[in-house]
Amino acid sequence: MKRVTAIYPGSFDPPTNGHLDLIARGSNIFDELVVAILRNPEKDPLFSLHERRAMLEAMTQDYKNVSVDTFDGLTVNYAEKIGASAILRGIRAISDYEYELQMALMNRKLRPNLETVFMMPAEKYSYLSSRLVREIAQLGGSIEGLVPDLVQQKLREKMDPAYKMEQPIPGKKKRKS
Ligand code: PNS
Repeated sequence: MKRVTAIYPGSFDPPTNGHLDLIARGSNIFDELVVAILRNPEKDPLFSLHERRAMLEAMTQDYKNVSVDTFDGLTVNYAEKIGASAILRGIRAISDYEYELQMALMNRKLRPNLETVFMMPAEKYSYLSSRLVREIAQLGGSIEGLVPDLVQQKLREKMDPAYKMEQPIPGKKKRKS
């Protein structure tokens, strides 16, 4: 039987609960799902590629058919290189549709046998985006429930490096004063 590998490409800066919701849905319908982080030298991301990869790996460790990778160049070329036959993308609202349709049709023009599959995240994430999470975190608002705890902690460390110093080292006993 044919096994279907899909890629889920994106910037993931940072990964959110909406991304995780889509990964969970994708892992249910594809045999293999590769979360593919774009290496984009033009963008100045908040999190390095290494940090985003580490966060996504931690977030997806319970999904046995999900892996995380990075790529540059065209998404369709990367998909071909790893033998993927589908691209997974999320659509939250009508506003996403035009951009996603344009990208899907352009990818189809470039590689006609690669299908784009759209899935909808849970309604509670329909207003969620990495851009808004970055903005809220940078301006000191609460991002509780919008990103996994691990990402929330990494965002806090980014915004306030002193926060990292205050955290107890696991397993290390606090000295009595
Ligand atoms: O999370 P994003 O930023 O919405 O993801 C956009 C992404 C990475 C899927 C898109 O920019 C992309 O595919 N870039 C790779 C270059 C490419 O293939 N461009 C042509 C797209 S039709």
